[in-house]
Amino acid sequence: MNVAVFASGGGSNFQALIDRVASNELHCTLAVCVGNNSSAFAFERAKKHGIPVCHMAPSHFASATAYEEALLAELRRHDTGLIALAGYMKKIPVSVIKAFENRIVNIHPGLLPAFGGKGLYGEKVHQAVLDYGAKISGISIHFVDEEYDHGPIIFQATVPVLDTDDAHALASRVLSLEHASYWRVIEAIAQGRITVKGRKAYGAV
Ligand code: GAR
Repeated sequence: MNVAVFASGGGSNFQALIDRVASNELHCTLAVCVGNNSSAFAFERAKKHGIPVCHMAPSHFASATAYEEALLAELRRHDTGLIALAGYMKKIPVSVIKAFENRIVNIHPGLLPAFGGKGLYGEKVHQAVLDYGAKISGISIHFVDEEYDHGPIIFQATVPVLDTDDAHALASRVLSLEHASYWRVIEAIAQGRITVKGRKAYGAV
């Protein structure tokens, strides 16, 4: 299965996937790294490992349609079977979601449906968890539908929130869990173990 990884930032989740492919635990091809931000360190990681990069943002195109067609063409060119969002901060166009129904996964650094939705990403999630006084946080890995952070949940896991945490400390605990988990979900999808009925995903990760 060819996986297109979408990343806007540091790409540590992308790196964790690269490492699990290298150790022969994740059986897929990381076919392309797509990003909207030319200075994303994720692109450096891709180049270092010989993974093609595709720098593509809506602002590069005359219209939204032209952008979406180019993005779909790029995904087809790499024979993409699954799109994995790994810290990708742009909304995926509806045409791409429809073309890849239940074949786009996202990793969210919080326990959905709480602490998610438009505007809640990255450290903002962790700050919201701390401000609320929640005692646990965690990760949600889900299929992407047309609403932010809403599609069928494939996997969730938790970490404690400590009294001494700031957003940075909580983020780093959550990120370790992300690195240990995302590849397992992608492997389960690649092995055909995950099915979707309505808004529910079934199958062991
Ligand atoms: C990760 O914590 C990921 O869950 C989060 O951005 C971070 C990216 O880190 N994604 C979102 O908040 C999406 N809603 P990375 O670039 O080091 O993988």
